[in-house]
Amino acid sequence: MPIRLHVNVDHVATVRNARGAAYPDPVHLALLCEDAGADGITIHLREDRRHIVDRDVARMRESIGTLLNLECAATDEMVAIALRVKPDVVTFVPERREERTTEGGLDVVGQRASLTDKTAKLRAAGIKVSFFIAADPAQLEASRGAQAQQIELHTGPYAHAYAPGATAARAAQLSALFDAARAARTLGLDVAAGHGLTRHNVVDLATIPELEELNIGHAIVADALVMGMAGAVRAMREAISRGLARRT
Ligand code: PXP
Repeated sequence: MPIRLHVNVDHVATVRNARGAAYPDPVHLALLCEDAGADGITIHLREDRRHIVDRDVARMRESIGTLLNLECAATDEMVAIALRVKPDVVTFVPERREERTTEGGLDVVGQRASLTDKTAKLRAAGIKVSFFIAADPAQLEASRGAQAQQIELHTGPYAHAYAPGATAARAAQLSALFDAARAARTLGLDVAAGHGLTRHNVVDLATIPELEELNIGHAIVADALVMGMAGAVRAMREAISRGLARRT
């Protein structure tokens, strides 16, 4: 089974917002991701709008030609935005204002009634609903019960266990992800994964037979900087040279 790659472009907006400038534009970069073979674009509209802002969501919806996955907290505000913008997929994630990035999985067991209600509203509008959860059988069962169509397995603990020498911890985390993916498929849920993935740790993960989709952001934006820096410096040198040539 092929694996869909959805590129999360949040941190393009982080760089833009660091200067309050109009560039780099996450929509422009999303189009480049599509040209390069991305199967979809993922954006996280956080409550504090620290990277992606509402205007980005609307522009993204109008501009991209693949699939839009909107990650958001399971709040009334976000459900209202999703119903207006109509992304292809909504992924509910837990959100705490003080965290640097999404830290844990969704507590579907504890929030089941509210998630069931919000999921029903989105599904009635034709939006696919995915829950971002830890590789935990209780959360999987509850996700099925709340009528999610897909779960996205939180790969953060696996990525952290990828430190040099952490071979046993890495194997344990990978094995939990294998088990969770199989259990999810048995429950009839589509299987995605994401968080903290890199070109190094994605290789073992991609061997999971049920895995259909990956959502990857920070490492791709970081690689884009590394792989593109030399060309950017050469382009700047060339622009300076053009100015020099006009000196009188
Ligand atoms: N999937 C989910 C649900 C996330 O919250 C995030 C981070 O926004 C990602 C994937 C992407 O994680 P990373 O930026 O570490 O690749």
